Amino acid sequence: ERTRIKNILEKNIDNYKDVIVLGWVRTKRVSKNIAFLEINDGSTLKNLQIVILQPDKFPLDSINTGASVKIKGYLEEVKGREQSIEMKAEEITLIGEAPVDYPMQKKRHTFEFLREIAHLRPRTNTFGVVNRFRSKMAYAIHKFFQDRGFHYIHSPIITTGDAEGAGEVFTVTTFDLQNPPLSEGGEIDFSQDFFGEEAGLTVSGQLEAELMATALGDVYTFGPTFRAENSNTSRHASEFWMIEPEMAFCDLEEMMDIIEEFIKFLFKYALDECPEEMEFFNKWIDKGRIDILKKIIDAEFAHITYTEAIDILEKSGEDFEFPVKWGMDLQSEHERYLTEKHFKKPVMVTDYPKDIKAFYMRVNDDDKTVRAVDCLVPQVGEIIGGSQREERYDVLLKRMKELDMNIEKYQWFLDIRKYGTVPHSGFGLGFERLLMYISGMKNIRDVIPFPRTPGNAKF
Ligand code: 4AD
Ligand code: MG
Repeated sequence: ERTRIKNILEKNIDNYKDVIVLGWVRTKRVSKNIAFLEINDGSTLKNLQIVILQPDKFPLDSINTGASVKIKGYLEEVKGREQSIEMKAEEITLIGEAPVDYPMQKKRHTFEFLREIAHLRPRTNTFGVVNRFRSKMAYAIHKFFQDRGFHYIHSPIITTGDAEGAGEVFTVTTFDLQNPPLSEGGEIDFSQDFFGEEAGLTVSGQLEAELMATALGDVYTFGPTFRAENSNTSRHASEFWMIEPEMAFCDLEEMMDIIEEFIKFLFKYALDECPEEMEFFNKWIDKGRIDILKKIIDAEFAHITYTEAIDILEKSGEDFEFPVKWGMDLQSEHERYLTEKHFKKPVMVTDYPKDIKAFYMRVNDDDKTVRAVDCLVPQVGEIIGGSQREERYDVLLKRMKELDMNIEKYQWFLDIRKYGTVPHSGFGLGFERLLMYISGMKNIRDVIPFPRTPGNAKF
């Protein structure tokens, strides 16, 4: 019978005495009459200490840090120590050896170094914690929406659209790239391609979520999204996971209440249901993280319009790299000023200029701004982007024409407005940015197991 170390240490197992443990050796200490192995099996951060009373009777020479082993023995409570259970070994079997060039000997490595051995880093303490945390928080996302009657929908990965209209789509093709068929004008002729037109990887499941919301009411997507955006920063990835709820019969104000409830739910979930991970982050990654989250749970988010934000920034007296001017997109330095220096808490900024936002956002009466909202948090900046959608057929059509979009291609999206249109709103939360914020991890490459960034898609 397999026993996980987490269950042993939490004393949750039926047969408390005789167990078999399968795991990897973290450390080995051998002296003449006694030896110790620390075993980790991935179920928890903690290792199980194995005590070996007659070391020369066991194959310890071939068992090094990193090796996988099977150990049969019995458990004993040890008094007066933090970790109160250890195991006396009766049989040790080496399953897979780890030669001495195993890169993760017991010492601390930089995150930069560990990114180079991304195939082995899940075995370190930090990445064990991060990956278990990621799994639990993914569950929390589903729990929030499922408990509230939202339906989980699977939006397509391959699509012919560009939901954000930002030209950041990765093309999917079966053409011989050395020799693609060309049209008379000399352009690649996608009509001969697999899908009969140019297709790519989705940058957002929003448009399909809107479609589904007009049938199911409240829906959400939670899946991978892709952006061929050549920005090498600590918070951009070419492949990231996004949560996109979409709600029919819902305006921006109602949605902002949901956003705040959602974020606070996730913070609370992390504190209540992931104590091992949160204590680790609080101690090793960012001291004081737990208190910061608790404060946010008790605070109300600030609400300002984009125009007010510009005003605050102009009056700040700060020497920004990007000069502040109405109409510009807020840069990371501006977001940080608002959240870290001015409000010192999360801020929801609404009503951005329409020219810096996507085509589907509802145009305000001033015809200059749209009903957008970005939720900004200290350190990370924007974690959520959303909006009330343009539900008026004519207004949307006009906007799409202004932007010179291919109307025929998006006719299905316009049809949602033609047949039984409703006010509706939705937003997108970047899963990695959420994890960065809760954990205090500083680089997006360290909260996703297989980071894809410009120049890097290995492992
Ligand atoms: O602001 P964005 O681009 O909004 C959308 O995609 C909308 N369709 C969402 C919606 O209304 N349904 O992206 C939303 C969030 C950002 O706030 C950010 O957290 C994350 O997705 N994000 C990224 N995360 C990591 N790497 C990138 N390159 C990201 N781009 C956006
Ligand atoms: Mg955005």
